[in-house]
Amino acid sequence: LNNGLAKKPPMGWNSWVRFLCETDCVQNPNTCISSKLYQTMADFLIEEGYTDVGYTSVNVDDCWMSDARNKEGTLPANQTRFPDGILALAEFMHNRNLTFGIYQTVDTLTCQKYPGSFGHFKKDAETFAKWHVDYLKLDSCGLNGTLMPRAYKTMGKALNHTSRPILYSCSWPLGMLDKYSELINYTEIAAYCNTWRNYYDVLPEWDTILRIIDWYTLQQNTLAAVHGPGAWNDPDMIVVGNPGLTDDQARVQMTLWSIWSAPLIMSNDLRLVTASQKAILTNKDVIAIDQDELANFGKHLFFLDGFDVYRKNVTPVNAQETSLAFGILNRYNKSRPFHAPISILGMRSEKGYHVKDLWAGTDLGLFKGEENISFSVPATGITFIKAELDNR
Ligand code: DGJ
Repeated sequence: LNNGLAKKPPMGWNSWVRFLCETDCVQNPNTCISSKLYQTMADFLIEEGYTDVGYTSVNVDDCWMSDARNKEGTLPANQTRFPDGILALAEFMHNRNLTFGIYQTVDTLTCQKYPGSFGHFKKDAETFAKWHVDYLKLDSCGLNGTLMPRAYKTMGKALNHTSRPILYSCSWPLGMLDKYSELINYTEIAAYCNTWRNYYDVLPEWDTILRIIDWYTLQQNTLAAVHGPGAWNDPDMIVVGNPGLTDDQARVQMTLWSIWSAPLIMSNDLRLVTASQKAILTNKDVIAIDQDELANFGKHLFFLDGFDVYRKNVTPVNAQETSLAFGILNRYNKSRPFHAPISILGMRSEKGYHVKDLWAGTDLGLFKGEENISFSVPATGITFIKAELDNR
């Protein structure tokens, strides 16, 4: 969507995967969906340095609303959990240089049965603009797949009619995936949305991460064709920081998402992230690959000795060639050695490449010609290297 927003893949934090629809603030005062939770996470983003590396959006998900619309048809927030309302929460974020995202659904009910937008798109868009919202996640559960295109376009136009720039995050293709996947028109989706969920929900589990990777790999040509500044495929949230993944598996998620130039929206409890998980989430070299200006959707290149080799074109470039980033994925339960001539990886620039291991933070040296590259890849883990053109 060419609305001047999301020139780079969006980065931030969302409540869903970690806090779901916890509404009992009496039993669970520190984990219930409430303005206090979002304010606490905003403070952590800043104090722990996540904002310094780019995580600057705080996004509300399902279960923020009251059970019904009010007489004028507008959506009130739940009064107990959001006592000062949404505008105040948005301003809390803006005062801290953060952006603020809200959640709605294209159907008549949200996935958790709060009032949805169907029939109220214009009203809701105006309400969100009035509340100084910067980002809308429009979910898709429930609505018949054939109605998705019209519904998403209607909300898109309604957002445009407000004078406020609001990043439009869609679940349009996901809403058509079950029965109507052959009707998905990605060109149209990319014209209306800044980001779009293609596939089912992520969980902090290795199996789910692999399932998303496999689906994305299978669809990579279709997805790459429509992907770029202002229009990003969204493989769902970053779950690093939760229990459930080893650090090596967590590096796999961050690597693949960066190779795809995916939105990096974390969902975790920032109060409980371990030091090593935080280092994974805030690795600047890795984030730079995600946010790289070429906005390339990196692809699975081939299998080699049981490794999945992924490659992305990145800056710096010279007239003919780009630098390259590689993810070498090891699905086996033991670490294994990787060994390959650099030429078969496509590192063919005559002057050679400076290679850096982005997770280890070590320089592997200058590689050129028919040289080989070797390293050990951890069990259910990945090695992420950047091969920078030698332009010196
Ligand atoms: C389904 C979405 O895919 C999730 O990310 C989350 O927003 C839930 N709905 C909320 O009900």
